[in-house]
Amino acid sequence: MDKFIINGGIPLKGTVTISGAKNSAVAILPAALLADTPSTIDNLPDINDIELLKEMIEYLGGRVAKKEHEVMIDPAGINSFCPPHELASQMRASYYLIGALLSRFKEAAIAMPGGCNIGVRPIDQHIKGFEALGAKTSIEHGIIKVKADKLIGTHIYFDVVSVGATINLMLAACKAEGTTILENCAKEPHVVDVANFLNAMGANIKGAGTDTIKIIGVKEMHGCRHTVIPDQIEAGTYMVAAAATGGDVIIKGIIPKHLESIMAKMSEIGVIIDECEEDLRVRINGRPKRADIKTQPYPGFPTDMQQLIAVLLALADGVSIITENVYEGRFKYLDELKKMGVKAKVEGRTAVIEGVEMITGATLSATDLRAGAAMVIAGLAAHGVTEVTNVHYIDRGYEAIEKKLSQLGADIKRVR
Ligand code: UD1
Repeated sequence: MDKFIINGGIPLKGTVTISGAKNSAVAILPAALLADTPSTIDNLPDINDIELLKEMIEYLGGRVAKKEHEVMIDPAGINSFCPPHELASQMRASYYLIGALLSRFKEAAIAMPGGCNIGVRPIDQHIKGFEALGAKTSIEHGIIKVKADKLIGTHIYFDVVSVGATINLMLAACKAEGTTILENCAKEPHVVDVANFLNAMGANIKGAGTDTIKIIGVKEMHGCRHTVIPDQIEAGTYMVAAAATGGDVIIKGIIPKHLESIMAKMSEIGVIIDECEEDLRVRINGRPKRADIKTQPYPGFPTDMQQLIAVLLALADGVSIITENVYEGRFKYLDELKKMGVKAKVEGRTAVIEGVEMITGATLSATDLRAGAAMVIAGLAAHGVTEVTNVHYIDRGYEAIEKKLSQLGADIKRVR
């Protein structure tokens, strides 16, 4: 298994370009299956989750031609509704194949989704939505089975704000008969990106990015060309890395609106952020300041940035409180960071972090995607050598992280 060896203490300097958004791309590839003709998707991040989806779509009979950051998906030959379980169970977003296949074949059978272990992650809201559209569902031997004679538009209220359920029900309702209204929807930028893609394929979706989404079912959808939005969490990751190392970094190719809550919190922490169209310059004078963070669905502070910003707070002057409102159990990484001298106490959904002036290198095991990235940043900011193991978690969601960091002057090596 690969690991990173990081020689810390070097301020990051230079320019980094942000890749396409993982959470958009993993929904857009399955969404392409709704069309009768091929779609081309560009600005695709080169990450392991995309490779997994490519393999699953090929297994289903689709033709996939991928070249660097562009992929052509021809769904014409799709003749199966059951992706291989050993692939589907490896990633959370395989659940989007349920919505897509249900829409197209009125049937899907998929292993319960895997992904990061960051607490209980039920999919009851997805299932409730599929059933409301007229599907019958069951879970047998770890496989979710969904089947319908026909799908009929209806009114669905989500009991929790869920990115996955919102997107999955948009997929399932695109070709349902009549009108579907989704209420209490997630408003994340990738929900809007997926809706834009579906509309370009001929769907009729209005209101994505608000609480209420209206979908008028259409009979046919066609291929289109689409550019994936930039990844706001990858951008936030490099913003934290710049500040935690006392560096000065230009982050290129972002949509500033998507980063508002992250920029606001980082400014409170004392990070200097200059915005110029699609670029940000990020630097800091002196030690970070303490701050309290509460994670919320968009436009609140994203849970996916919680573990990353904790590294800055661990080095801040004073005591910070993080409240994790989205997931239970997203604080396991703090036990690893404690090996570096980080001072933190966790009680339920709250972590109290007492900032220290310096952290030191240690051997850490990545516990999930964002935790792994947080450990890499901690290693960059620490004195001495840090080893981060279980790098496969990081590769699921970050394109060429060690290459991008090395270009900023970091001393980081991948060891196989
Ligand atoms: C997506 C993102 C993930 C991010 C999360 C929250 C993808 C592939 N992943 O995950 O990176 O951390 O949004 O921004 O886009 N819930 C239920 N029942 C459900 C669905 C969700 O109770 O049926 C709960 C979850 O347990 C969690 C909360 O709702 O507490 C939000 O989860 P959700 O937005 O669905 O997360 P994902 O879509 O899985």
